[in-house]
Amino acid sequence: MSSEPLLQGPRIFRPTTANLARLAALLRRGELVGVPSETVYGLAADALNPAACAKIFAAKGRPTTDPLIVHLASAADLDRVARSNPAALALAAAFWPGPLTLVLPKLAVVPDLVSAGLPTVAVRVPAHPVFRRLIRLAGRPLAAPSANSFGYISPTSAAHVRDGLTGTSLRAVLDGGECLVGLESTIVDLTDPAKARLLRPGGLDAAAIERVLGQKLVRPHRKTISVGVAAPAPGMLSRHYSPRTPLVLHKRLDVRDAVKLASNDACLLLRKPAPADLRHLPPGTLRRLRWLSERGELTEMAKNLFATLRVLDGEGWTRIHAAQVPGGEGLAPAINDRLKRAAAKG
Ligand code: TXA
Ligand code: MG
Repeated sequence: MSSEPLLQGPRIFRPTTANLARLAALLRRGELVGVPSETVYGLAADALNPAACAKIFAAKGRPTTDPLIVHLASAADLDRVARSNPAALALAAAFWPGPLTLVLPKLAVVPDLVSAGLPTVAVRVPAHPVFRRLIRLAGRPLAAPSANSFGYISPTSAAHVRDGLTGTSLRAVLDGGECLVGLESTIVDLTDPAKARLLRPGGLDAAAIERVLGQKLVRPHRKTISVGVAAPAPGMLSRHYSPRTPLVLHKRLDVRDAVKLASNDACLLLRKPAPADLRHLPPGTLRRLRWLSERGELTEMAKNLFATLRVLDGEGWTRIHAAQVPGGEGLAPAINDRLKRAAAKG
């Protein structure tokens, strides 16, 4: 037997009143806590404490050129961390709490480490009630990126957080169940409200944002940005959300294509095949097949995407083949964005 001590992972806490008080106290003392949100699980620390936020970067292995999102319990707290404007207030009224992050000029209380030295800060009010209760109890805004090691698939359950961050300084994860949206928030830069920019497609449909703003969002040029390069538009790394198993992205993929794949390749379909198609599969093919949705709904695909990629990544396949979502409506751009980055080479 090995003489190395077994690494103890963080403990998972149910969201009882006593546990919430305990975790809020940890946060006030400058410790990390894994937190549930409607989008993905976050790795939270006191946003106003640079030493606490430094632990986030260390635990994730995240470069300090990549700024953090600051989470508030209520839109009324926005003025504590950022300089807002009428467009930001309109979006906050329409979509907070919810999967929308706004980038605004930052106030001096926000440490430079949180904003990666930028004059702006990303802010969001999450919809998960347990997360908001924890922010209230902690009594300060919480900085939280997704609770995965840098570049890996984002976590959508407390177990994902524990499995991915065992061996780091994270000691506690608050269990709020599976994430209902399953994709990170949509990020809109409102530093110049006349030219609102979509920095990341996400869990809130960009068309809904455009309707409230009464203007089209500018889609910044997606130049390839790699780790270690100063990021003029952070959050746009070409490789991200990636399984360790190579992911091959196809324009279309259906159950008939699965039959033609190499025998140790897996196939991730968007939708469950018809029963007749499943019945006529050659032996051994079904075990290589997974699907993101039963009914072909985009919300269901988004919710299952990261968890299904994690399952496939743990099964020892040579390659994972996946299909892009057709059309550009609703959550399709956000799902395809994650799939493209997960498949990107570097
Ligand atoms: O849904 C979400 O947004 C989740 C949950 C936990 O809230 N958080 C999340 O955080 O996805 P993270 O760190 O994985 O992604 C946040 C992105 C980063 O890629 C970062 O570059 C960008 O937001 N960002 C943060 N501050 C920014 C700023 N001041 N200007 C531009 N982009 C910023
Ligand atoms: Mg992330």
